[in-house]
Amino acid sequence: MMAADTAAGTDPAGAGGKTVLPGAEDTFDATSIAAFANRNPSRELDGQVALVTGAARGIGLATVAVLASRGARVVLTDLDADEAEAVAGRLRADGGDVTARRLDVQDEDEVQQVISSVLEELGGIHVLVNNAGTTGPARPVWETPTRYFETMLRVHLLGTFFCVRAVVPPMKDAGYGRIVNVASVAGKEGNPGSGAYSAAKAGVIGLTKSLGKELATTGVTVNAVTPGVIDTTMIRQTSPDHIERLISKIPMGRRGQASEVAEMIAWAASPRCSFTTGAIFDVSGGRTTY
Ligand SMILES: NC(=O)c1ccc[n+]([C@@H]2O[C@H](COP(=O)([O-])OP(=O)(O)OC[C@H]3O[C@@H](n4cnc5c(N)ncnc54)[C@H](O)[C@@H]3O)[C@@H](O)[C@H]2O)c1
Repeated sequence: MMAADTAAGTDPAGAGGKTVLPGAEDTFDATSIAAFANRNPSRELDGQVALVTGAARGIGLATVAVLASRGARVVLTDLDADEAEAVAGRLRADGGDVTARRLDVQDEDEVQQVISSVLEELGGIHVLVNNAGTTGPARPVWETPTRYFETMLRVHLLGTFFCVRAVVPPMKDAGYGRIVNVASVAGKEGNPGSGAYSAAKAGVIGLTKSLGKELATTGVTVNAVTPGVIDTTMIRQTSPDHIERLISKIPMGRRGQASEVAEMIAWAASPRCSFTTGAIFDVSGGRTTY
């Protein structure tokens, strides 16, 4: 049994063998200020292990920082091993329990091997954030090279699938887990010029919904966030007129910050997210309100 039992404040396999899922305790007094105050999020991940993919910068790095600030031991993984090591060192100097591992989510064997070694060394994984992502030049679907289309599917959709397949059995055995997938508004709306990326992110949304339902009675929740235009390297590499077109669709009239996405991820990764699974949370300044 993983340390989530204590971290989630419950005994998943409770008295008499009856399963008491975190957050579903019938003893919780929802009329009490003290009861809610005891759920103070500031150290709610004490004793938990979180693994974040594509975390050397941008949304992934902000997610590592917020999860570490709330007490999690965070495994910061990325394709770029040097950058991952450098930022993990900086976060450790800042007081976080953060270690770095190289992980290319496209490589199923590497995913299995890294997740197995984390399970063995740290005793479990309570939170998985599937964040790794990449994009490329804008072009219409009919001019998209097959190889590029395959890469988008492999990084975003298969990468998420590989990580999920490796962590779900131990999370199920422990009776607790939080999986958060980073999709995109492109997966809901289909951005012109980004057909391969949009298709891959739509796949992540479908996978999230299916898996959430499959695991609904296990204590493992699965949710996704759909960021809009967020100020990270990925967006800064896009042409200025394309960004202006995207921002013109945002009712708030601005790009979002990585920290704003990380806050939403942190809630979905917390024990407080106990009656929500298979859901898609928008972080788009009002662009896609469905
Ligand atoms: N920035 C946005 O506007 C925006 C909008 C919607 C969704 N997203 C999604 O958010 C996630 C994070 O994006 P970001 O904006 O922080 O981008 P970013 O480019 O700043 O960071 C992406 C990180 O993923 C890593 N990465 C790329 N391919 C990888 C692989 N195969 N295996 C492991 N790591 C890999 C990169 O090295 C990098 O550190 C992505 O899934 C992206 O599609 C971003």
